Formats: sequence, structure tokens, C-alpha cells
Amino acid sequence: MSFPQRRLRRLRRTPALRRLVAETRLSVDDLVAPLFVREGIDEPQPIPSLPGVVQHTRDSLRKEVHELAELGVPAVILFGVPARKDPEGSGAWDPDGIVQVALRDLRSDVGDELVLMADLCLDEYTDHGHCGVLDEDGEVDNDATLDLYARAAVAQAEAGADVVAPSGMMDGQVAAIRDALDEDDFPQVAILAYAAKYASALYGPFRDAVDVTIAGGGDRKGYQQDPRNAREALEEIRADLAEGADMVMVKPALSYLDVLAAARAEVDVPLAAYHVSGEYAMVHAAAERGWLDGPAVMLEHLTAVKRAGADLILTYAARDVAERLR
Ligand code: PBG
Repeated sequence: MSFPQRRLRRLRRTPALRRLVAETRLSVDDLVAPLFVREGIDEPQPIPSLPGVVQHTRDSLRKEVHELAELGVPAVILFGVPARKDPEGSGAWDPDGIVQVALRDLRSDVGDELVLMADLCLDEYTDHGHCGVLDEDGEVDNDATLDLYARAAVAQAEAGADVVAPSGMMDGQVAAIRDALDEDDFPQVAILAYAAKYASALYGPFRDAVDVTIAGGGDRKGYQQDPRNAREALEEIRADLAEGADMVMVKPALSYLDVLAAARAEVDVPLAAYHVSGEYAMVHAAAERGWLDGPAVMLEHLTAVKRAGADLILTYAARDVAERLR
């Protein structure tokens, strides 16, 4: 008599069997499309290091968002590129700043059909490229920056954002923003905190997209997390939740799946992961050379991010993936 062996291959035999037992289902509902809108341009500008992604005009942004809504993508997150940058990043909190103007356009176009998120940071708007204002020694001044984040949050809320997403990694930023929103009568506006955001080399193409160069060849290691630390990410997440974050994010995604899985085990709020510009660009670059099947790898990457525990994924591939998952 032979020993009855459970053969794992039995359930892999047909596509229907595989579909039936799949543990992870990547859906259009999981996707958030990051979009760039630039002040003062008449034509969308391609971003060479992010194939398929552009700096939008106000009009082309409206069209893109309409199409994403048709495809069933539930949310977009906006990044602004101002015509002029200054030391305080005033375009981030000016009621007529480019993202605020774009939010008003989109809110009137799509109503509540689509979730409008706004990245909340100063780096796209400062002439020195840092995520906050600088003190006399040229260091990023944490608390002075919080006041400006609070103003930006209110400006974004007034313009129609459903969700503001602080990405600057200042200590206390979530509390400062929550207080400001509540005081100005925007208790309904939610906060997606970039809670565990690493000082990653994978943001290069994004900095091309928003025309940011950090002054003096600087970096963000003084405020973003050290890639060597995983437990510290959980401290960041706990702090942001205690300060009132409604959702938390791990960023980048693919190189930090361990952090994502640990975060998933720890929290029951919606967990986001940002498949960042470098992660997207690498797949496209290799695919262009014919070295791998780009769309298949992209789907595999995003499925892995979901499997590790993300509820929502910010990805430049949102549109392509939505088209493929239809
Ligand atoms: C900061 C911000 C950055 C990204 C999102 N928000 C850049 C940075 O921290 O340097 C990077 C996103 C990406 O690489 O796709 N406003």
C-alpha cells in the first residue's frame, strides 16, 4: 500500500483551479494613481525617466482623471510643480497654488466619484529642495515647518481634498495637521501618513518629475528613515496613529516588503504602500531592452506588495494595470 501523498500540483492544474485557490487578489480598487500637475505650461511634458508619465497641464489632468475614473481607479494623489519656487515653499499653501487650483477643477468634474488625495510637502515648492524650511544653520527646522504644513493642509482641504498625505517626515506633522484641519472645520478630511518613509535612492525619477534638486548636493537622511531600520518603522507608525492618522504608508514598497508585513501584523487601519518612481522606472528600462516582460513583472511586483499586506498601492502603473485587470 502506498502512502497517500498530498500533491500540491493538483490545485495548479487549470486556470480556474488556480483562480479558485488564489490567496491574493490584486484589484483596480487597490490602486491610487500619482499625478503631476505643472503650473504655467500649455502642453503636457513627458518625464523621460518615467515612461508613460507626464507633467500635466490643468486641462490634461482633468482628462486623465476622467479616464481613470472610467477605468474604475478609485483614487488619485496630486503633486504640484509650481512656476516659481521660494525658500518657504509658498506654492504649497497658497490658496491659488497649482495643486489647490487643480483640486478645485477636479472636484467640480468628478464630484465624489473619485477620492482626491494631495501629497502634502514643501519640497516641490522650495528653491533649496528640502521638505521643510531651513534654520540659520541650513538645517531643516522641524517646528517652523509644521506651521507651514498646517497651512497647506487647510488650503488643500478648502480646495476639495478628501485626503491629505503628509510626506515630509517631520516629527509631529500628523498632530499639527489634524489640529489645523479640526480648527478650520474640516473634521471630515482624512490623513494618509507617509509614516515609514525611507531615505531611498529610488526616488530619482520623481525628482525629475517635480524638478527638484536638493541644494548643495544634500540629501534627506536627516529626516527620512535609514534603510537599515525596520523596527523603527513601527515606532513611526505607532506615533502617527497616536497623532490621528487615518491610514499609514510604507515607502518604497518592493524593497521594504518585510516592513510592510510587520506593519500589517501590527495595525488594523488601512495600510498603503508606495511603489515609487525608481521601482517603476527599473521595470520599464529593463523591458525597453527586451530583458524582461514589463507588464508581467509590474503585475508580479504589485501582487507581491498586496500579498505582503498592503490594502492600497500608489503606483505609476495604475492606469496600465487597471486596463489589464478589466
Ligand atoms: C516628497 C515626496 C517624494 C516622493 C513622494 N513624496 C520625494 C522625496 O522624498 O524625495 C517620491 C515618490 C517617488 O519616488 O515615486 N514630497
